[in-house]
Parts: sequence; C-alpha cells; structure tokens
Amino acid sequence: MKVFIKTYGCQMNVRDSEALAGMLTNAGAELTASEADADVMIFNTCSVRDQAERKAIGKITFMKKYKKHNPDLVVGVIGCMAQHRGQELLDKIAHLDFALGTGQLHRLLEVIEDVRQNRRKIALLEDSSDVLEAMGMHSDYANLRPHTGMIAITRGCNRFCSYCIVPYVRGREYSRQAEDIIKEAKMLADKGVREVMLLGQNVAAYGCGGNVNPPPADVSPFGDLLQEIAKIDSIKRIRYTSPYPTFFTDKLIDIIASEPKICRNVHLPLQSGSDRVLKNMNRQYTADSYLEIVNKLKNKVGELTFSTDVIVGFPGETDEDFMATKDLMNTVGFDHAFIFKYSPRAGAKSAEWADDVPQSVKEERNQILLADLEKRSIAGNLACVGRTLEVMVDGVSPRNPARWSGRTSTARTVVFSHTEGMKPGDLIQVPIERAGRVTLFGPGLVGADEEL
Ligand code: SAH
Ligand code: SF4
Ligand code: F3S
Repeated sequence: MKVFIKTYGCQMNVRDSEALAGMLTNAGAELTASEADADVMIFNTCSVRDQAERKAIGKITFMKKYKKHNPDLVVGVIGCMAQHRGQELLDKIAHLDFALGTGQLHRLLEVIEDVRQNRRKIALLEDSSDVLEAMGMHSDYANLRPHTGMIAITRGCNRFCSYCIVPYVRGREYSRQAEDIIKEAKMLADKGVREVMLLGQNVAAYGCGGNVNPPPADVSPFGDLLQEIAKIDSIKRIRYTSPYPTFFTDKLIDIIASEPKICRNVHLPLQSGSDRVLKNMNRQYTADSYLEIVNKLKNKVGELTFSTDVIVGFPGETDEDFMATKDLMNTVGFDHAFIFKYSPRAGAKSAEWADDVPQSVKEERNQILLADLEKRSIAGNLACVGRTLEVMVDGVSPRNPARWSGRTSTARTVVFSHTEGMKPGDLIQVPIERAGRVTLFGPGLVGADEEL
C-alpha cells in the first residue's frame, strides 16, 4: 500500500503527519511523494484562515482525476478542517472516503482498512485524549533533518482568543506526562537527534492543568521540563513554539538565562500593539505588560532574537491601533514575524462582529509591517558581520548545492563551505564575513552566494 500525505498548517500538523507516517510504515505501508502512485491519499488540514481551508479543498477536489484511473484509491481528510467541516466535506465531495478529526488520528490504520474492505464513507470526529500518547511515537520513518526532532508536549488550547478557531478544532488543552516526554527525547537522542523542538499551541502553559492564568512568578512546570531535557547529553539545542507571553514567569526566564542549550530565539505572539484591540481579541496582556516581559528576557538572558505573529485588520482596527502595532514591533525589534490578514472564522467569537477593515487596507498594513521587518532583519544580519557564531550544521544548503547551511541559536541562517568530516548536527564556529537579506555568509564562495 502506497500512501501520499500532504500537510497544511502549523508545526503541530507537521508533527502529526510525521507520527502518522511512522505508524503507517510500521504497519508495512510505503510512503510516496507522487500522487499518481498512491493507493491512499491523506490531506492533513488547517482551518486557521479561510485561505488555508480553500487551498486544501481545491487540492482534494482536484484528486478526483486519480480516482477515475484507480477506483480503489482511498482519499481522506484529517486534522483541523476535518474536525471543523468533516461531515460537510464528505457529503459534498463524492470521491472523499473518510474524515478523521484531531482527536481520532490514532485510528487512521483502522479507518483506511475499513474503507478498503467496505467501501463506505467514514467520519470519526469525537474529541478524545487517547490520541495524546499514540501520537508520541517515533518510528524509523526518516524526516528531512534527522538530527532534529519534534515533540508535541501539549495538545489543544483553552484560551479562546476571539478570532481563533484552534480551541474548537483541537479541543481542550492537555499536557503529556513529563516522564513520557523525557523518554521520547531520550529515544530521539539515541537515534542521533541533536536539536529538539517542543510543540504546543501554548507550550509555556505546559503542566499548568489547562489554567489560562499564569502560575506564580516562582513556578514554571515548562521551565522544569526544559531543564530535564537539557540534562540529556547529546541533545545540544532545545527550541519551543508557541508560548503565550504571560507564561514567561521569572522562574522560566531564569531557567532560560541559565541553560545555554535553550535557544536564544523567542517566538512571542503579539497579535496587536493596541490595548483596545488586544482586549477585544481576549489576549490577556497590554502593550506595556508585553514589553515588560520582553525587557525582562533581554535583561536577564542577554543576546536574544524575537519573532512574532501579528494580525492586521481585526474588526474595528483603526489607523491609530495599527500605528500602535507598528511602533511596538519597532520597539521590540522583531527580526522575523508572520503577519496575517484577519480572516473571520465561523464559530469563533469575532465572527459575530463586522469584518469592517477593507481588504485593501489590510493589504496596505501588511506591506507596511513587512517593509519595517525587512529593514530590521537586514540591520540585525549586518550587525553579525565580523563576529564568529556557533552554528548547528543542517546539511547542503537548499538554495545553493555548492555550500552548506545551518542555524545559530538565535535562529539566523548561515551559509558556509563544507569541510572534511563535517556532518549535520555538528556545532561549528563560523566567522561571519557578509550578510544578505535573510542569510549570513561564512568564508568562501562569493559569486554564487551573491546570486541568492
Ligand atoms: N497558539 C499559537 C497560535 C496558533 S495560530 C499562539 O497563540 O501563539 C497561528 C497564528 O495565526 C496566530 O498567532 C494568529 O496570529 C493567526 N491567526 C489565528 N486566527 C486567525 C484569524 N482568524 N485570522 C488571521 N490570523 C489568524
Ligand atoms: Fe488560538 Fe489563542 Fe489558542 Fe493561540 S492561544 S491557539 S491564538 S486561541
Ligand atoms: Fe491550523 Fe490546526 Fe495548526 S487550525 S494552525 S493546523 S492547530
């Protein structure tokens, strides 16, 4: 049985697809990158914005042609959009065989078998925490960067930011047992993983029992977990995404400051710099309290880069609100950000409010923030020239096969020349000679680098 998997959405989905690929290959299936070769097609989907749903629906609809040639082909939709609209999609798309919600992913094999034998449409959409441990498995399925590994430490979200569909499609927030996570990290380390990425919609709330309020300043179960993972000798770097800003307690910040394996890049979703908009978004911080967390991190940890998520054109966002976002982004000095145009999601609270910022204004605000970002990112890169930075080697540069690339702890990409014996996962020292818009360059090859 050849299986084609296409993944949309965030890293949680990437991780889920990886675990499912492992489950399938363990059961004797073969993965294929070619749609035409597939006996089974699985679309792991995202609902966070309308565009994400449309893209996946377009693709699934287009797959009809393969069913014409191969009537035994099984086509399934899984993940967030399946959770959101699974039954509707099964009703509308004749060649779609199954819909598996985010709490039912561990039943994938069973569902594929059922469809193959009985040729009936199946929808499994109940919320279930059984999926939690089943999805922890890592098989010999090789990912693209075998020296890195992702570990989902929480699932779901209890925050209900007014614009967001995630709490409805991913269900309630659960934290996995620390022992299981450590076991998984050790297993990855034994397989040669040197950098782990801890995943959750709200990772820093790990172990807080689903409470939306942060714990006291001297408490951080997430920080404790980071420390435990850092004890694994061959794990050299720990990343995590995404933390909710208010969960950076003093304890967590102190742990980050004292443990160099925890990477010096914080992805801290801001969403807006206007207190009025933040309140309507149901984000539990103000521009000032956000900045306070950033400053504490900068003061205690030292060199750090910050990245963020921002929404432009939220209902009622005025020019003044937008300028507050622009100013705050400059004050923090983000050198990377995902900027999203507000997209109303049926079911989420804000969908009840008029989507009153015209598309053209959303686009304009998006461009303004992108232009600021580009300036800061170039400046940040230029400031690295002349320094020697520690880089974890990723392998051959995806953009220039004559060179290799890797990343700094601060999440900057560095391009350099391969030397005898160098392998992915190695930590090396690279003198930075030049800087591009998104990349730093070590010694060697100039011409081809400049073309990038
Ligand atoms: N749990 C993560 C976010 C997951 S969704 C966190 O809170 O950090 C990723 C990003 O998508 C969000 O941070 C937000 O910026 C954006 N987003 C979510 N819902 C959206 C919507 N309805 N319209 C536009 N962007 C949205
Ligand atoms: Fe969505 Fe907010 Fe939860 Fe993030 S924290 S997933 S933005 S509801
Ligand atoms: Fe999308 Fe689901 Fe992630 S809605 S952003 S794939 S949790």
